[in-house]
Amino acid sequence: MRRLDGKSFSEWRARLSAKVRTFLAGRDGGSSVVAGYALALAPLVLALLATWRLAGLSGWAAAALAVAGGLGLAIARRRQLAEHPGGSLRPERGGRLARAAEFKVWHRLLDAMPEAAVALDGDGRVLHHNAFVTELFPGVSLANPLSRSIRNPDLIAAIDQAIGSGGTVVVQLNERVPVERRISATVKSIGPQSERRPADPAILVTFRDLSEQDKLAQMREDFVANASHELRTPLAAVKGFVETLQGPARDDPAARDRFLGMMATQAERMNRLIDDLLSLSRVEMRAHLQPRGIVDLNEVAAYVSQSLEPVIAGADAKLRVAALDTPARIRGDRDQMVQVLINLVQNAIVYGGKGVEIDVRISRVASADRRIERLSMAVTDNGPGIAQQHLPRLTERFYRANVASSRSKGGTGLGLAIVKHIVARHRGELTIASEVGKGSTFAVTFDALQPRPD
Ligand SMILES: Nc1ncnc2c1ncn2[C@@H]1O[C@H](COP(=O)(O)OP(=O)(O)OP(=O)(O)O)[C@@H](O)[C@H]1O
Ligand SMILES: [Mg+2]
Repeated sequence: MRRLDGKSFSEWRARLSAKVRTFLAGRDGGSSVVAGYALALAPLVLALLATWRLAGLSGWAAAALAVAGGLGLAIARRRQLAEHPGGSLRPERGGRLARAAEFKVWHRLLDAMPEAAVALDGDGRVLHHNAFVTELFPGVSLANPLSRSIRNPDLIAAIDQAIGSGGTVVVQLNERVPVERRISATVKSIGPQSERRPADPAILVTFRDLSEQDKLAQMREDFVANASHELRTPLAAVKGFVETLQGPARDDPAARDRFLGMMATQAERMNRLIDDLLSLSRVEMRAHLQPRGIVDLNEVAAYVSQSLEPVIAGADAKLRVAALDTPARIRGDRDQMVQVLINLVQNAIVYGGKGVEIDVRISRVASADRRIERLSMAVTDNGPGIAQQHLPRLTERFYRANVASSRSKGGTGLGLAIVKHIVARHRGELTIASEVGKGSTFAVTFDALQPRPD
């Protein structure tokens, strides 16, 4: 047997300790783990010594128990480190707790994201997703491949590509069921596999529903198309009259007067359209600003009835105002309230027909919350009424129940859209009740101004 001198003994000891460290560490980080074990084993040895004294065990039996216990713990720790490399000091408690906390943090990060997000493992299975995902794709479930619940070949190919070669892939999903939607999916690889633990997410998929954006773009397009059409119609008429005046009617003074009158009407129509468009855009721009003034609806009704007197007389119409005998105050913008009532009364005059009777009524109405009083300003006419199918669309820009009749009366189809926006700015409500042959009632309702508590 070879005797060990000082040098070879220290070499042997260094080799052994390296082996033990590698064993204990599983893959790396041995020294911190050994230090952790020294701490973890100390109370165990003390407990065994105490048991030995109490139970009267022999010293050898106690030592054998201590060695067996220590070995068991070391093997368990080695397995754990092999599964999750990168442990820390105090491996048994701190490491596990730190990892559990880390696990929850990325879950919470996903939950806090403002759009639908799913984390997938390296096989494309769902590790976690936030609530927006359930709203968009109710079928997505944990531990199952995402491709099972969202069967879209482009998305599946994008996930495979991101898992295989990393990077980011953006795909469009056109969903048809339950409603038609256009969704953009961004599939992003989260760093190379070598830098991740096996249970870490490998892919992040985020979804953005573009349907709302598409709808707004469509509305903008429709608006521009409608506005230019509305302007082009009178403009074409004016051009036609000019050509006639330059040609066949050149030397006909009677025709010239007639055509000039028609041109003035068309120019006036264009002017009104531009005024209405500007008015609508001003109202929209201030939609988020709550009005600060105080308006008495009784006073608004009196003012509008007085200012429309000449128009009423000219149209052979009748207007009655029933105001409250107590103040009917709301928080609002007086000019806008006047604009609302003028639009509603003008509609009643224009569409109510000859000899129409119009009632403007200010009243208190019951509200769901009994503590808050509501005030209503309603315009009722006994005109021809409006067919039911038009009612839900009357407040859309340029919508008319009868296009020819509205155009011939100089309407632009923007009046009720303006009313709707003003009422919305005042946190009020617009209701329309009408029946063919029985007239119409347009009512706006607002919270009454609360008296100051004394
Ligand atoms: N009191 C009413 N009786 C019958 N139809 C009405 C009445 N008020 C509105 N309408 C119908 O609703 C449509 C939309 O009204 P709105 O005030 O928005 O536009 P307009 O009167 O055509 O144009 P503008 O008010 O911009 O000059 C009208 O074209 C008309 O068909
Ligand atoms: Mg109108």
